[in-house]
Amino acid sequence: MGPERFQRKVKQRVADNFDQSYRIYQDFEEKHHFFYDLTVQLAEKIGLQPGSRVLDVGCGNGISALALHEQFSCQVMGLDLSARMVAAGQALHVSNQEVCLVLGDGEQLAEIVGDQRYDYVLYNASIFIFPDVERSLREAAACLLPGGKIAFSFYPHLTNPAGDDLFAVAFQRLEEPLPRFRVITDYQKASSALGQYCHHVCHHQWIRPFDLEFLRDFFSIPAQSASLFPGRDYEARRELVGKLFSTLKDVASQASIVWRFAEGTKA
Ligand SMILES: C[S@@+](CC[C@H](N)C(=O)[O-])C[C@H]1O[C@@H](n2cnc3c(N)ncnc32)[C@H](O)[C@@H]1O
Repeated sequence: MGPERFQRKVKQRVADNFDQSYRIYQDFEEKHHFFYDLTVQLAEKIGLQPGSRVLDVGCGNGISALALHEQFSCQVMGLDLSARMVAAGQALHVSNQEVCLVLGDGEQLAEIVGDQRYDYVLYNASIFIFPDVERSLREAAACLLPGGKIAFSFYPHLTNPAGDDLFAVAFQRLEEPLPRFRVITDYQKASSALGQYCHHVCHHQWIRPFDLEFLRDFFSIPAQSASLFPGRDYEARRELVGKLFSTLKDVASQASIVWRFAEGTKA
């Protein structure tokens, strides 16, 4: 299969997974307020200026867009591959003139934004699902005003003080194979692509306590569970997610969940 066909297939799978996720995603957010807080962390770490114009790539049901608008008075244009996530977001934000959410591919930004230009292009918990990150970041840089920034938050890293990958520990204890691809694009690759189109790339972290209930709920979102147990049906994945994190009870008090962020500035 050629690379373009492979990328189209991956994106179709991603859209289907998030189409199946929108209700559980909303329930998860109501309980944990997580994607909202992650967006605020991302914005604070990069020193986002209040009142900015932001393009939110992979906006889902608009939680990141809403956080940027409510906490930083931003005007936000969000786009997402999943029709159901976008529709759920449009229903939630129907009365908000400053937040606009549309269906679209974050690897084809030029088609969507036309000649609009932004102060920031942000990817909150989305860039690691993009198969062609170089293309997306090249287009993101073209949408930026001079001096604007691109930034992303990444998939969680579970670790202990010795630096072990606790996903690997948990899969070993569960006697299940560690998935070959927990993410489609890894942090290193996304960061080097950012460096191709931006200067001053820098990195930040948000370290949260290791909360087993949070992890179980987070990875019970259908799209997230697919990254851990691909090829199984949802009920089987949910059951395995519960068992997977139960194996880590004894290490929980020493462990943490690390959320990584990267930012770059357009020349
Ligand atoms: C974990 S959700 C994050 C949503 C939102 N940013 C938030 O903070 O709640 C990731 C989103 O990225 C979207 N996504 C993945 N690949 C995409 C692409 N190529 N173009 C647009 N959206 C994409 C998914 O459909 C999903 O809604």
